[in-house]
Amino acid sequence: MLGKPVPAPSALPEQTCITSQVPESLTRRKLLKTGVSAFAAASLAPSAESAATMDAADRAKQTRSIPYGAAISSVNLARDKQYGEAIARYCDLVVPDAALKWDATRPSPDRFDFTDADMILKFASENKIGVRGHTLVWYAALPKWIDQAVTSRESAERELTHHIAEVVGRYRGTIGSWDVVNEPIAEEPGTQDLRESIWSRYLGTDYIDLAFRTARMADPTAQLYLNEYDIEFAGDRFAAKRKALVGLIRALKDKGTPIDGVGIQGHLDPRFSIDTEALAALVGEIDAMGLRVMVTELDVKDQFLPADPATRDAITAKAVETFLQTVCAGVHRPTAVLTWGITDRYTWMRYYVKRADGLPNRPLPLDAGFRPKKMFAVIQRFAGQKASQLPQ
Ligand code: G3I
Repeated sequence: MLGKPVPAPSALPEQTCITSQVPESLTRRKLLKTGVSAFAAASLAPSAESAATMDAADRAKQTRSIPYGAAISSVNLARDKQYGEAIARYCDLVVPDAALKWDATRPSPDRFDFTDADMILKFASENKIGVRGHTLVWYAALPKWIDQAVTSRESAERELTHHIAEVVGRYRGTIGSWDVVNEPIAEEPGTQDLRESIWSRYLGTDYIDLAFRTARMADPTAQLYLNEYDIEFAGDRFAAKRKALVGLIRALKDKGTPIDGVGIQGHLDPRFSIDTEALAALVGEIDAMGLRVMVTELDVKDQFLPADPATRDAITAKAVETFLQTVCAGVHRPTAVLTWGITDRYTWMRYYVKRADGLPNRPLPLDAGFRPKKMFAVIQRFAGQKASQLPQ
């Protein structure tokens, strides 16, 4: 059932290095790999001797900005010139919102289709912006044939490892980090912390360690993340999710699972207050385990906010500020801040989080006309900004 290896397209981005004044240890490739932007890389450029010392001590108090990025859709990239221009202008890195998921890359058990993903990788290379991958293992976005293909522990292991080896192997050296496992925690942890999925059904929690180990073998240079949502807010359900997540991470670390970081999705919802103390504690615990934190899918659900755009934009900007203030206050800064889309013109919320009044959602940093909103200014205060492209 294993398909023939898919030849990598010649158009895969070649590795470009920043100019010679930056020591090898800080070449663009390495910095991009850790999610550090070209812009931030340029501002990093220390002399060779200082590079060695620039690590934990400097990182802890560094006031440098953090790379900013956005989820990108191949569909919108193909049809909307302004969309690509905005991403190239404001983003240091991108993450495909759908093009690297199983349902996009696996039309059949023995075939891979990387057309959409390769389009995004090519766009990113041409615009000198980094790419992160999303997602190798999820309970959703699976092709219909998976239920016939995965019917036992053996077949689950075979399909999972084959998929990850092929996908990560194809983009080895070009995708700097991966959401290896997405949303593994149950909606209502307590009796059962692990979310039920085809993978947990046949492999239990073993699927998570297996996924990370397979991804590490396929590309030892990529940073490997576990990505989760609803861990930002005050309330029993969210506290239970945070507790279950920390428990899972500890168990993975104890097992020697090659995990590098945790993605805090950041789909904010003004119906729930951000539990700044608990979120800061979570970031601290992740940091104490030697793992990085990345804000991976930031946006704000506004379906219950007032209709008036200015009122909505003020509330969403404030929510983002509180969230980023908390996440960025930790000893080590997030490796990147990404929003889940960049413009209100295209957001997943128009399908999944509709407003009763039918007005379009306003969850993202740019409005539907690609004009920066209050939220944009807040994000740029915390995250990387390509100085030459700051909104006038
Ligand atoms: O590209 C195809 C198109 O060719 C086809 O005509 C069309 C109709 O079937 O479908 C298109 O694919 C859609 C894809 O988005 C690209 O637009 C899929 O049906 C649709 O299910 C998919 O939705 C994505 C969803 O995850 C499920 O994969 C959303 O765009 C994406 O924003 C959302 O993102 C998730 C993260 O992965 C995990 N965290 C939550 C976040 C929001 O739900």
